[in-house]
Amino acid sequence: MSDWTYGYVSDIDYTHGFYRELAPAHLRFCLLSKGIRPPEIDGDFTYCELGFGQGVTLNVMAAANPRAQVWGTDFNPNHAAGARQLSHDGGVANSHFCDDSFEEFLARDDLPQFDMIVLHGIYSWISAENRAVIAAFLRRRLKVGGAVYISYNTLPGWAPVMPLRELMIQHAAGGRDGAAQRVDRALAFAKSLADDNAAYFGANPGVAPRLEKMVSMSRNYLAHEYFNRDWTPLYHADVVRELSDAKLTFAATANVIDLIDAVALTAKAQERLAEVSDPVFRETLRDFIVNQQFRRDLFTRGAVRMNAYEQAERLRALRIALVVPRKTIPNQVAFPIGTSDLKAEVYAPLFDRLEKGPATIGEIAAGDPALAALPLAAMLQAVLVGVSQGWIAPCLDASGDGARRTSARRFNGAVLNRARTSADLTVLVSPVLGSGVPVDRITQLFLLARQEKQGDIAAFAWQILASQGQRLIREGATLESPEDNLAELRARAQTFTDGFLPVYEKLGLA
Ligand SMILES: C[S@@+](CC[C@H](N)C(=O)[O-])C[C@H]1O[C@@H](n2cnc3c(N)ncnc32)[C@H](O)[C@@H]1O
Repeated sequence: MSDWTYGYVSDIDYTHGFYRELAPAHLRFCLLSKGIRPPEIDGDFTYCELGFGQGVTLNVMAAANPRAQVWGTDFNPNHAAGARQLSHDGGVANSHFCDDSFEEFLARDDLPQFDMIVLHGIYSWISAENRAVIAAFLRRRLKVGGAVYISYNTLPGWAPVMPLRELMIQHAAGGRDGAAQRVDRALAFAKSLADDNAAYFGANPGVAPRLEKMVSMSRNYLAHEYFNRDWTPLYHADVVRELSDAKLTFAATANVIDLIDAVALTAKAQERLAEVSDPVFRETLRDFIVNQQFRRDLFTRGAVRMNAYEQAERLRALRIALVVPRKTIPNQVAFPIGTSDLKAEVYAPLFDRLEKGPATIGEIAAGDPALAALPLAAMLQAVLVGVSQGWIAPCLDASGDGARRTSARRFNGAVLNRARTSADLTVLVSPVLGSGVPVDRITQLFLLARQEKQGDIAAFAWQILASQGQRLIREGATLESPEDNLAELRARAQTFTDGFLPVYEKLGLA
């Protein structure tokens, strides 16, 4: 192991994930819904990600927000090189990605002050010393009024699994084989112990099913999640304390379901929480009530609270869009407190309007008598439900669509081109959202076929997949014959053309 790693896994690269919660528009929406004035992101602004991994999310944010100056660091040079390559291929002109450690990044004198700093999947996986370096960076580099997104593993959710991680890490220690092999060996060992009925698994019944799921997960993900020297689930109160030196206070969660108490908490739990006046203890208590495992917190350096009129005005002016076909949205949702029907009189007109294209909350309310009669809080709740389920996303202001369209088209062209040979990138940029939308490789090939004016998009995709020996999977079974693969592609092409394509056109992706 090399010595720049601080014990962090460096011999296996991280996955190419995209995280919509890091989008400036998403963070703004979460702050607005809690009545906190967000940083301005419709004009020029600055944005930074610490530990960007493969840099997919950060590149998407840069391409989707061309007026932002987007900075980031990840000390793994493979990650930084890959992220720069993607910027280069996608013609991203406003990105500044480097391979500094957090310590080196903190010491630099050439960085701007940032409106938003985000770190996802970092804070629980580094040492206490490095956490202090991050706090110092936030203190030095976040603007007054700026916002920080910080996610971390938390307790009590992780408590039963902590010994499993310790078992695997001790078992893997000392070997000379690579990270993927260490993960394989440790998983097999833990599984054999569970199969032999070690009492730990009996006393913690959630652990064996979790282990079972881990067996089929990406080794790259598992190595980075479980096999670092440092791995510390933190209580919310710990994070509040550590960031208080950076003058940060907790403002909101970026995990939208946790913004909707009515569906996330029982009435009894809401009453109990209402009795707690200390905001930090209230969050901790909430984590016990929902057995929270992972938090996505938003902190601000100084919070300007809006009065109810200003908040209402800003929410009414907020544009939102549908990101899935209307017909795929179910009438019932499994919320944390149980399954509920969506009230047709609220959700049907909301989705009907959004099916026609993005609109502001005010426009949507004004266009339907039932919605117009609703209090804004009820309308906001419906929008929050839609965002929490990944059906709706907050947008940027329509006035910037034109400029964003140019950079989004360049970036998406590069992603579609990569889809010819790779399934790594599963996101395209929407200039309307100022963020990304998950799009799998097959759908990317359909979009590429349209771009290249190919009449038969299924045949085009099959030609590429077949030449690489790829086969489709349906209901868990690999389709072997060309006829079955082509038939499956034709069915998917139909779903794409009838359902997703009109949505993507409205989002500016196609
Ligand atoms: C679990 S990954 C998360 C990556 C990315 N944020 C994501 O969610 O896809 C953590 C990343 O932090 C980087 N990292 C860890 N310690 C670091 C340090 N001290 N300085 C800079 N980068 C670091 C690693 O190389 C790795 O890419």
